[in-house]
Amino acid sequence: MGARMSALLRAAPQFRRMVAADLDAVMAIENVVYPHPWTRGNFSDSLKEGYHCWALELGGELIGYSVVAIAAGEAHLLNLSIATAWQRHGYGRKLLEFVIGLARDFRAGNMYLEVRPSNEAGRCLYAGAKFREIGRRRGYYPDQGKPEDAVVMELELA
Ligand SMILES: CC(C)(COP(=O)(O)OP(=O)(O)OC[C@H]1O[C@@H](n2cnc3c(N)ncnc32)[C@H](O)[C@@H]1OP(=O)(O)O)[C@@H](O)C(=O)NCCC(=O)NCCS
Repeated sequence: MGARMSALLRAAPQFRRMVAADLDAVMAIENVVYPHPWTRGNFSDSLKEGYHCWALELGGELIGYSVVAIAAGEAHLLNLSIATAWQRHGYGRKLLEFVIGLARDFRAGNMYLEVRPSNEAGRCLYAGAKFREIGRRRGYYPDQGKPEDAVVMELELA
């Protein structure tokens, strides 16, 4: 681990709203951490829609982000990602705790998400935060030729 990285690991993570100017940094992470990444348009649409789009910064560097839609008393976690170099240092859990707090602040009673059955890290992260599996959506991820189901998870916030 480099000196800069170990110095940054001691810095307090900062949460701030994502803005359009972040999208280069966001896409640089997105394209690496997912086999089927969101497009830049998915993020700019999320910003335009007024979804809750947050960036996680460490020492001024964007190392993670999350997108949550909150409406009609329900929160839907649409994206939560940590840059590969910064994974397994607790930042995913901190970001998840942050968006759960946000959903509570906006009076959501439940948070829902979809995760690929093959996404061990995601499923463990969510299970650790007390999300429970409530079902499957068949063929939710339309990967070329071989759609993958989604595991639907829910956390009661009330
Ligand atoms: C899922 C993700 C956000 C986790 O972020 P992270 O910062 O590495 O996670 P943390 O260090 O906070 O770990 C929290 C918990 O997640 C689970 N976890 C994280 N990475 C894991 C892995 N590779 N394998 C198994 N469990 C893992 C563990 O339960 C861990 O708790 P522990 O450290 O006490 O064992 C990150 O791996 C990521 O960005 N992946 C690509 C994007 C993605 O799949 N997002 C979820 C889509 S639904």
